[in-house]
Amino acid sequence: MTDIVLETRGLTKYYGGVQALEDANFILRAGEHVAVVGDNGAGKSTFVRQITGVEQRTAGQIFFDGRETNHAGPLEAREAGIETVFQTLALADDLDVPSNLFLGRELFKFRLGPFSWLDRKTMRERTLEALKTTAVKIPNVDNPIRNMSGGQRQCVAIARTAAFASKLVIMDEPTAALGVQETAQVENIIRGLKERGVPLVLVSHNLRQVIDLVDRIVVFRRGRIVASLNKGETDGNDIVSYITGVKGSEPAHG
Ligand SMILES: Nc1ncnc2c1ncn2[C@@H]1O[C@H](COP(=O)(O)OP(=O)(O)OP(=O)(O)O)[C@@H](O)[C@H]1O
Ligand SMILES: [Mg+2]
Repeated sequence: MTDIVLETRGLTKYYGGVQALEDANFILRAGEHVAVVGDNGAGKSTFVRQITGVEQRTAGQIFFDGRETNHAGPLEAREAGIETVFQTLALADDLDVPSNLFLGRELFKFRLGPFSWLDRKTMRERTLEALKTTAVKIPNVDNPIRNMSGGQRQCVAIARTAAFASKLVIMDEPTAALGVQETAQVENIIRGLKERGVPLVLVSHNLRQVIDLVDRIVVFRRGRIVASLNKGETDGNDIVSYITGVKGSEPAHG
């Protein structure tokens, strides 16, 4: 038995000549909450996109839930149990909140060959429940997403993640666009995931948030993992010195 939920070995991604991610060796254990930090362009979102199958890696291996994986796309990763809030949101503008929550996993009243009947009532009820447990306030769930503010959209995406959280949650800058109250709500959602034992990878520039919330902080610099710092053995200054390169000239295991 291993308690490793996610592991990457030598994970590497080039965009043409740009080495966005270089030999990332990373381990996430059961129930663990890990932050991924680093300057703009350090490779954090690239790392997330490889794990979630949004892009195909240049080299390296990914192990999830005890097996080597090769997710062809985000839906496949989601089916395997990885729920992700992407930095650039993947919500459907024309659809209302329930349709977005259930995008790709719609509930049906019946399905028979080409004929199907969506179970809108149940999806709407479950949406209201999900929003309630996450304390996210959306004025009207029947409005299309396009009529909502950036912060409200982000809240819908986070509610979706928390509602369906199964084996792993990944959030890429979940609170970057949020106000004070919404940020506090999202942080509560994250604490709830911790209580439920759902492991988390949290990409964030907010060091106060990171130190508050997670067990361990992994620092990316110029596409490489340069440090893995346990909470309690580090502080804001220490983290910043790894981000900026004052410390950590050697690649590290994350
Ligand atoms: N689709 C792409 N095509 C070419 N280069 C890319 C692409 N996506 C990212 N890059 C480059 O890869 C590097 C890493 O980008 P990435 O988005 O992973 O950074 P990040 O750490 O998430 O930064 P931020 O904190 O600003 O979100 C950057 O140099 C970026 O310009
Ligand atoms: Mg990013």
